[in-house]
Amino acid sequence: MAAWVPAGHRVLVTGGAGFIGSAMVRRLLQDTEAQVFNLDKLGYASDLSSIGEHPRHHLLQVDLADPAATAAAVHQADPDLVMHLAAESHVDRSIDGPAAFIESNICGTFHLLQAVKAHWEQLASDRREQFRFHHISTDEVFGSLAEHGRFSETTPYDPRSPYSASKAASDHLVSAWHHTYGLPVVLTNCSNNYGPWQFPEKLIPVVILKAIHAEPIPLYGDGANVRDWLYVEDHVEALLLAATRGRLGENYCVGGAGDHGSPSERTNRQVVEAICEILDRLHPATAPHARLITLVSDRPGHDRRYAIDAGKIHQELGWKPRHSFEQGLEATVRWYLENQPWCDQVRSRAGYQGQRIGVGG
Ligand SMILES: NC(=O)c1ccc[n+]([C@@H]2O[C@H](COP(=O)([O-])OP(=O)(O)OC[C@H]3O[C@@H](n4cnc5c(N)ncnc54)[C@H](O)[C@@H]3O)[C@@H](O)[C@H]2O)c1
Repeated sequence: MAAWVPAGHRVLVTGGAGFIGSAMVRRLLQDTEAQVFNLDKLGYASDLSSIGEHPRHHLLQVDLADPAATAAAVHQADPDLVMHLAAESHVDRSIDGPAAFIESNICGTFHLLQAVKAHWEQLASDRREQFRFHHISTDEVFGSLAEHGRFSETTPYDPRSPYSASKAASDHLVSAWHHTYGLPVVLTNCSNNYGPWQFPEKLIPVVILKAIHAEPIPLYGDGANVRDWLYVEDHVEALLLAATRGRLGENYCVGGAGDHGSPSERTNRQVVEAICEILDRLHPATAPHARLITLVSDRPGHDRRYAIDAGKIHQELGWKPRHSFEQGLEATVRWYLENQPWCDQVRSRAGYQGQRIGVGG
C-alpha cells in the first residue's frame, strides 16, 4: 500500500478527527511516508487520541464554512492528494438541525473545491498531472431500496433526508468542478461503516453501550430496516485504492459483501441481536442482553433498505473487504468493552449521553 502514495507526497485529509477520517490518517501515517495534513473543525464527534503525536501529522483546525480559512489551509498544506471526508454525518441530527448540514456539507464542499481548484491551477506541471481530489460520499444519496436490487454507480440520485440531500448536493458540486474546470476528481459512495473509535451516537456503538449498562436498547420502528455493513479498516483500503488508482471523473460504490459466505446486509434487529449474543459471552454480568431490546417510534422518513453492488471497484481496482460482518462486529464489541473510559470522555465532552434524537416534530 505504501507505494500507492509516494514518499514525500502531501496528503490533505478533511474530517481527519472523525471516525473514518482518523482511521485514514492512522493508515497513512503507518503505511506511507506521506506528510498528512488533517483539516478538521474539531466538532462534537471529533477526537484525536487515536492518532496521538506524530511528526508527519499536521492538524489544521479550520471550519470549511469559512472560505478564507479554508483557502489558507489548502495553501499551507500544499497537497498532492485531497481526501475530503469532513461532513456532518448523523441522519438523526440532520432531522433536528439541518442548517449545519447545509453549511458544512454543501457550502463547505464548495469552499474547499474553490480553494483546491486555485491550488491545482498553480501547481507545476509534473505535480499538476498527478494531483487528485477524492470525495467520500454515502450510498444514502441513492434513496431507499425495496426487498430486491442493489445500488450501483448508475443508480439515479434520490436522497430523502437532510443529511443525504446535503451529501448528494456535494457530490454534484464535485462532478461539476470536474466537468466544468477539469479538476481531477474521484468519488466513492459507501455503505454504513462500523468499527473502533466511532463516536457513540450511531447504531452499533449505541447498542453496545446500552447493553453493557443494562439500559433499554432502542430499536427504531419494526427493526426490519436493512443496511449493508462495512468494516472501517476495509473501507480505508478501498479509499486508498480509489484515491490513487481510480479513474478520474468516475464514482465507485463500496459495500461490505466479500468472499466470506456471510451476508453484509442485515436488518437492524439482526445487528442488535448479534451484538447481544456476543456480549452474552464477553460480558455475562448483564446477560441475557436481548431482554433489553425495546421497540421505539421510527425515524421520520427512515429509508427501508440499502445494499451495494461493489462489482466495479472489485473488477477495476481489485478491492474486496477482508472482514466478514461476524469478524468485524466481534472486534468492535471487544474494542468498546475495553475502551469504556474513552466513550465516557467523548460523550461527556459532546454533552451527549445516548439520549434519543431526530424524532422530528
Ligand atoms: N460513518 C458512515 O457510516 C458513513 C457512511 C457513508 C459515508 N460516510 C461519509 O464519510 C465521511 C466521514 O464520516 P464519519 O463517520 O467519519 O463522520 P464523523 O462525524 O465521525 O466525522 C466527521 C468529521 O468532519 C468534521 N467536520 C464536519 N464539518 C466540518 C467543517 N465544516 N469543517 C471542518 N471539519 C468538519 C467533524 O468535526 C468530524 O471530525 C462523511 O463525509 C460521511 O458523509 C460515512
